[in-house]
Parts: sequence; structure tokens; C-alpha cells
Amino acid sequence: MASRQTYYVTTPIYYVNDRPHIGHAYTTLACDVLARFKRLDGFDVRFLTGTDEHGQKVEKSAEAAGKDPQAFTDEMSGNFRHLAEAMNFSYDDFIRTTEARHISSCQAIWQKLADNDEIYLGSYSGWYAVRDEAFYGEDELTKTADGLRLAPSGAPVEWVEEPSYFFRLSNWAERLLAFYEANPDFILPDSRRNEVVSFVKGGLKDLSVSRTSFRWGVPVPNDPDHIMYVWLDALTNYITALGYPDTDAALFQAFWPADLHMVGKDILRFHAVYWPAFLMAAGIAPPKRVFAHGWWTNEGQKISKSLGNIIDPFLLVDRYGLDQTRYFLLREVPFGNDGDFSHRAMLQRVNADLANDFGNLAQRTLSLIQQNCAGQVPTPGPFGSDDAALIARAVGLLDSLRGEVDRQQFHLALTRIWEVVSAANRYIDEQAPWMLKKTDRARMETVLYVLAEVIRRLAILVSPVMPGAAARLLDQLAIPPERRDFARLGADPTAELASGQALPKPEPLFPRLRETEGPGA
Ligand code: MSP
Repeated sequence: MASRQTYYVTTPIYYVNDRPHIGHAYTTLACDVLARFKRLDGFDVRFLTGTDEHGQKVEKSAEAAGKDPQAFTDEMSGNFRHLAEAMNFSYDDFIRTTEARHISSCQAIWQKLADNDEIYLGSYSGWYAVRDEAFYGEDELTKTADGLRLAPSGAPVEWVEEPSYFFRLSNWAERLLAFYEANPDFILPDSRRNEVVSFVKGGLKDLSVSRTSFRWGVPVPNDPDHIMYVWLDALTNYITALGYPDTDAALFQAFWPADLHMVGKDILRFHAVYWPAFLMAAGIAPPKRVFAHGWWTNEGQKISKSLGNIIDPFLLVDRYGLDQTRYFLLREVPFGNDGDFSHRAMLQRVNADLANDFGNLAQRTLSLIQQNCAGQVPTPGPFGSDDAALIARAVGLLDSLRGEVDRQQFHLALTRIWEVVSAANRYIDEQAPWMLKKTDRARMETVLYVLAEVIRRLAILVSPVMPGAAARLLDQLAIPPERRDFARLGADPTAELASGQALPKPEPLFPRLRETEGPGA
């Protein structure tokens, strides 16, 4: 038997200095949708997430909380697992960088880089931003009125002078550029790709990859005064989780190189420049793609702890519903762009797209079947041209969604689905099955069958984004759980729905939200 195609998707691992916020939820949600989509499409999927627990930033936060760093990270890492439960994320592995498997993996990649003469001992003097865990050149900084220096991210920097190992990043610029050239889809969206290419064309300096002024991290092999730079440590998680350094391990063989590292735009450079250089220097293939998504603002304002306008994903789920939140985040903003969260926009999406368009379509169809077909899947007669046209649109959806999802264009995938929802709503209005019941019952059954079949397809296709609502809808159509994957979306409209099958009483899918519901209510 031919082995199944594989798909490996990763989230960034999250710093445990902070509680989960909308940014974390957003990155992982995008990966979750991809993972679910690929599983339903027959792929053997590996979906990795986890927490980034080393480095000065976490050490300082533990200190501020008056806790031992390990106890602190144990506690904080748990919050990200809770987020995954609250958001219905279907990860296969959750990695923590303080785990033994990861520490030995980091030391192994370091050793490999050292053996390949890619690392040398020197000393670093320059600027460092703990908040970004990044080194900056003087030319990248801006000075505030009171003489404070800030990184481009707005993070304050401090002067660091200490012995340090360096990675020979300067040797990799040409090879990175050749790699980007040969793999035009390695960095998406294209605008981000151009930024990275011009950064690399500007020349790369060797990168400091160890620190000696604090202790919370992975000791450098044979020189434990040095702690590995937290980004080298963190990036390595993507291969640790496949069994590195055992590159013969079944997981490594099956899933490396990763199909996609999903990241926010702020951490693209680490993933698209440093990481492929580290990997190539260690003799390991680089990943196939890095996608950098945009940032959310809150009611038009930049989100920050000091402004106190952090959006708590647990609260969103409580107030608007889980599937509603998942839908909104991926539908509202073209994936890759920045976007604004607002209560109004959320209300509008839930009421217009979910309650009115999709919810009503399902509710109207299922109620008509309940009332006029004795609560059983109707029996269709021959399909006319209007029936065939609607069915053809629903059948054609899978291919167009594959195209959109393979380029991480989730908003377009949802738009395509809603085009068919609208077409189905037009069809029900034009065919008026409630009238046919008096004049032509056979035709009414055909129309209701076509609608039920189209809704079945829509439910399966929307299930990666709204797994809960889709499952409830498929329950209402009495589709068995093992018949809810994309293999059930072939061209034959009569292959899956069983005429005569009894259906449960229909339940509304998406309640309308009232103006007053949500934050501030
Ligand atoms: N630990 C590093 C990643 C290491 S990966 C090898 C890190 N962690 S983080 O917790 O700070 O980052 C989390 C993710 O959240 C990033 O992808 C970041 O872009 C994203 N976001 C943080 N704030 C955000 C918004 N306001 N909006 C959208 N995403 C944002 O970086």
C-alpha cells in the first residue's frame, strides 16, 4: 500500500512570561485549521505546539513572581495547555523546552555546528533587548527624548559585554539568497518575503549564540559557563519533537522537513534567516515554508500590557462562543494582514454570516424536512438544471478550498464557502419548497434533498474552522462520524445521504447575539 502523504505544521512556542492572549490563540488557530483540513483530506498530520521556557526574559519574570524558574514555567506552561482545550486545538504534541528530550537535542545540534566549524569563541559587545530576546546594531535603534534607546519593536535595549560563541551567519547570506530564489514560496506572504530578501542582501553579521551573564537555559556542551542563545534553543524544538538527534527516527523520516512554520510577523527573521542557516550548517534540510501573519489591534489601538487592553481568548470564547470566535478570527482579516478586533465587527459577523446566512439555511431546510417529509431524508427524483448547478458548485468547492488553504488564505476559503451558502439561500427562495408541498410533493422532496446534500458538504468543509457546529449539523443529518471526511465529497450527490433515514429534531446552530452581548455588557 502506498504510504499516505504527510503534513507537519508547527506553531511558535510561546514564552511563559505572560498569560495567553489573542495573538497566541490566533497563531495556533491557523495551524489547527490547517491540521484539521489536511487530516480530513487524507494526510498523515503532525501538529506541534508548546512553550518556550528558557532565557533572560523568563528568568526575570520568575524572579519578579518570587518563584524558582522551573516551578514558574511549570505553572505558566499549563495556561497554554488550557488555552488549547478552550479553543479546541487538535495538537499532536506539546513540547516544553525544559524537557530532557529538548535539552539533549539542543546540545546535539550545537555539537554538530561546532564539529562543522560553524561556531567559534569570541566576545560580544552590543545592544540586547530582553523583551525580544534579540541583539540589535546601533543603526537599528531609535533614541527617546530622555536618551533611552529602543529597538524597532519598541523594546528597550541594554548594553551587553561578555564572552560569547558566534555562529558564522555571515557565511550564509549567498546560500540563503539562493535558497529563497529556488523556493519562491518559502516565505509567504510575498511582501514579507521581499523584506527578508532585502535584509539578507544588506549583508549578515555573525550571530552571538551564547550568553554568560545569566544561567536559565541549556548549557553549551563542554563549556557550561555559556548558556545557549534562547532563539537557537527555541527554534530547535521543531526537530526535537521529531526525535532529533536521531534523524533515522520514524517521526523524523516521515515529517522533516516541516511543511509549515506558522509565525507572527515579528518573529519572521528568526525563522526565515537564522533557522534555515542553522539547519543547513548542521547538514539538515530547511523547512518548506514559513508564513508570517499580521497583528491584531483592539478597537483600533495597539495591544499592550501597559495600556491594559489585552484581549483574553478565554473571555472571547465565553462571550461569543467557541466556533463563533474561531470563525471571526479567520474570516474578518485577510490572513497575513494586520486586523482590528472590535465588538461591533464580531457581532456583525456572527449575526450576518453565521446566524442569518448559514444558520438559517440549515434551520429552514431541516425544519421543512421535519414537517413535510416525516422527519426523514427525502427521496430525490431526477435533478433539473437548477439542482445540478447548485450541486456542481458544492462539488467544486473542495478543489478551490485546497488551493486557498495551501496558501494559508483562510479568509478566501471561507468566502468561497459562503458563496455557496448564498447560492443555496437563493435556490431555496426560488424553488420555494413550502409552496411545492401543495402542488408537487415529488419536486419538493427533490429540492429538499438537494439542500440537505449541499448542507452536508458545507458542514464537512467548514468543520476545520468550526468543528463543534459542523459536528452538530452533521448529527442533525444523521451522518455517521466516520463519514465526515473529504473522501465523502465525490461527484455523486446520492452517495452519502440515505433517503428514508430518520433525522433528529432540528436545533438552531448559531443563536443571534444581541447588541449588548459581549465586552462591557
Ligand atoms: N517564544 C517566541 C517564539 C519562539 S518559536 C521558536 C515568541 N513567543 S511569544 O509568546 O512572544 O509569541 C507569540 C506569537 O504571538 C508570535 O507569533 C506573535 O507574532 C504572536 N502575537 C503576539 N501578539 C500578537 C498580536 N497582537 N496579534 C497577533 N499575533 C501576535 O515570540
